[in-house]
Amino acid sequence: MDIIREPVELPRATQLLNHGPVTIITSAHGGRANVMAASWAMPLDFDPPKVVVVVDRPTLTRELIEAGGVFGLQLPSRGFAAETLAVGSNRGADLDKFSAFDLETFPAQRIDVPMLAGCIVWLECKVIPDDSQRHDLIIGEVVAAYADKRVYSNNRWHFGDDPDLRTCHYVAGGTFFATGEAFEVGT
Ligand SMILES: Cc1cc2nc3c(=O)[nH]c(=O)nc-3n(C[C@H](O)[C@H](O)[C@H](O)COP(=O)(O)O)c2cc1C
Repeated sequence: MDIIREPVELPRATQLLNHGPVTIITSAHGGRANVMAASWAMPLDFDPPKVVVVVDRPTLTRELIEAGGVFGLQLPSRGFAAETLAVGSNRGADLDKFSAFDLETFPAQRIDVPMLAGCIVWLECKVIPDDSQRHDLIIGEVVAAYADKRVYSNNRWHFGDDPDLRTCHYVAGGTFFATGEAFEVGT
């Protein structure tokens, strides 16, 4: 079978990797707190666990993370996609997104940042200072992690029948994918 390999515009190339789960970053410093969506988040190391997020320089999130040295990284599920889009389409400099979008929070265990109740995975991260920041990267060591037991336990995802509890993956323009079915291959 002839496969047609459709060219992709280079500025769109990273979108092809975007269906890692979309995340939401919370941050706080000096009496201000904020929340934004971030598709560009990935694991970096196992032990101690580290993650990388890419946070654009002009965002309030970046300002608060650089000042506070900590951030919350959480996974929204499909049922929280509208809120995810909202916190990724509005600037914390312009409005308090927690109250504007009616986002319930709870205190983190190890860092002084609000965590989002509507999510299904929560990672509390401390920034590891690193010169990679010239690429807008922020490296965080995960100091606490927890997940909604309905979909993750015993080190395994187990998405059930509720489509709203699946993680989701952002493409662009308000379009998301929901995580699909698990399947096994022999080891
Ligand atoms: C689904 C989604 C994913 C996004 N991913 C990122 C990202 O990975 N990095 C980034 O800097 N901005 C990303 N953005 C844009 C920020 O969320 C947006 O600039 C936000 O308004 C910044 O908020 P703040 O200024 O309140 O921190 C994303 C937006 C959406 C809707």
